[in-house]
Amino acid sequence: MDEIFASRDGAVLTLSLNRPLKMNAITRAMYGELLRSLHDAAGDFGIRTVVIRSEGANFTAGNDIHDFMDAPPTGPESEGFQFLQELHNFPKPLIAIVQGNAVGIGTTMLLHCDVVFATQTARFSMPFVSLGLVPEAGSSYLFPMLVGHQRAARIFLTGESFGAEEAREMGLVTIVADDAQEQAMAMAKQISEQPPTAVINTKALLKSRSHEAVSKVMEVEGELFRMALQSDEAMEAFMKFTTRGEKK
Ligand code: COA
Repeated sequence: MDEIFASRDGAVLTLSLNRPLKMNAITRAMYGELLRSLHDAAGDFGIRTVVIRSEGANFTAGNDIHDFMDAPPTGPESEGFQFLQELHNFPKPLIAIVQGNAVGIGTTMLLHCDVVFATQTARFSMPFVSLGLVPEAGSSYLFPMLVGHQRAARIFLTGESFGAEEAREMGLVTIVADDAQEQAMAMAKQISEQPPTAVINTKALLKSRSHEAVSKVMEVEGELFRMALQSDEAMEAFMKFTTRGEKK
């Protein structure tokens, strides 16, 4: 079964993470698939809005930790970083629907979305420091811009999670609703019926203030992130996760 499932309804493309037994943890192959789908969607005149969602009870547990250990990204050309670049530069509206856990990139990718819907079950976390890593996806710039330095520092440095209402209040999520899926699809359709050039230009204008700064930050984050992946601190944290079952 496809771990990234793409479906089309008129001018709306929906990309679903489909690895629920592993909490939709994202592998290199999945990043590659997401990257290709977004790239194609950017150049396809028939697609006007993209929805990112997940199958099962969780949005995603973030990057696959086994991949971090066995096949870590070695440079900016790696699939994960290329996916983030594509997301950052994606010209058309991106709508996300979050339920359950949204860990790591599951939260940071939302900073690149234009409208985020969540159910009450949504729980967000960016435990990069706890894993011996650093923030990615431009989140070290975009998150403090959204919530202020001290709140961002608290969340990054402690690795603590927060719920749907807090996410809405901080502006990471637009709408919290039990029928997030239905509302999100209705909005995607509504936006797709708007004049497309005006939509694309408006999104570009909304992002123009921060776009270049985020590109630069993502480069620096990427270098630090790749270095951190090789560190003893990260290895220790990954081992702790992968050997959990043995201690039960
Ligand atoms: N990478 C690889 N596998 C993962 C994963 C990840 N990031 N997150 C969860 N899984 C797998 C588990 O290994 C488990 O697989 P198994 O049944 O074969 O053992 C399955 O998904 C279910 O996860 P489990 O941990 O048993 O669920 P839980 O409800 O007890 O805990 C989380 C949920 C999200 C709190 C926990 O899975 C977790 O902390 N995951 C890691 C999150 C993370 O640090 N991501 C990287 C961010 S940069």
